[in-house]
Amino acid sequence: MIIRSQPRHAVKASEITPPRYYFNRRRFITSAAALLAAPALGWPVESRPARPLGPYTRSRYIIDEPLTDYEDITHYNNFYEFSTDKEDVAELAKDFRTDPWTVIIDGEVEKPGRYHLEDILRPHPLEERIYRLRCVEAWSMVIPWVGFPLADLIKRFQPTSRAKFVEFTTLYDPAQMPGQRRRILDWPYVEGLRMDEAMHPLTLLAVGLYGKVLPNQNGAPLRLVVPWKYGFKNIKSIVRIRFVEHQPVSTWMKAGPREYGFYANVNPHVDHPRWSQARERRIGEFFKRKTLMFNGYGEEVAQLYAGMDLRRFF
Ligand code: MTE
Repeated sequence: MIIRSQPRHAVKASEITPPRYYFNRRRFITSAAALLAAPALGWPVESRPARPLGPYTRSRYIIDEPLTDYEDITHYNNFYEFSTDKEDVAELAKDFRTDPWTVIIDGEVEKPGRYHLEDILRPHPLEERIYRLRCVEAWSMVIPWVGFPLADLIKRFQPTSRAKFVEFTTLYDPAQMPGQRRRILDWPYVEGLRMDEAMHPLTLLAVGLYGKVLPNQNGAPLRLVVPWKYGFKNIKSIVRIRFVEHQPVSTWMKAGPREYGFYANVNPHVDHPRWSQARERRIGEFFKRKTLMFNGYGEEVAQLYAGMDLRRFF
């Protein structure tokens, strides 16, 4: 895999505050009021404002590791609906329409329906969390997400006692998503979680990153983030959340059942059939580092898998 040192689609310096500085400055801002006052203080603002990202607080789920550059997070993307070339996704997704957006909530749930994104988001206070993202391709990033716990949404829509899993589906729209005109995967992209994984406090529905509205290439307007699992579980541009009794079959399980399991927990002791998972390259760094069990979140999540053979349930 080739790791770029210079992003191909560099944004002009005048257009954007380098997120590293932006972020460090923002560390000193503690209240939403101060955030709103930022333009008045003469700080640069986004040149192309998307839907505004409401005020948010900092959560306690913060890892103390250098953040991956905004440029890398937004120009080195896996989003096969647009392209299998990570460096082409941002450009191909730039006109993707994410407003209006609706999400279907159905299956084993007390309050099924088709909801406007605004109605999905409104009751949920946003928070910022800094998580590691470990891709199955053995690279990783550290990303400051903004979102809210999936558990809060689940409690609100009230799954029935029959709901044992949650299935997520990405938009299917080949007119907008050129990758879907090719049968590289069985579209639409589907992912799933066991109910206790979905309810875990670390599991996030993200709407932003680096304090900004989620860029299209990162899964706007709503994507899943499960930090102890390989990146492919983090399904983007969600249009359906379905509560089901039986374990969903994910897109990657269909594509390669020997290579991609339902659980997809980061596990340096279980290799991908075609490469080792013991080490990873943090984007922006030269030397590889050891991959951590459950991506370093073992203390929080290991008990979810107590007694399970993680070689079998990979
Ligand atoms: N979701 C959809 N719908 N389509 C995809 O191709 N790729 C996955 C995941 N979610 C993917 C997806 C993979 S393999 C990874 S590593 C992450 O998104 C990448 O997220 P990022 O581009 O925000 O880093």
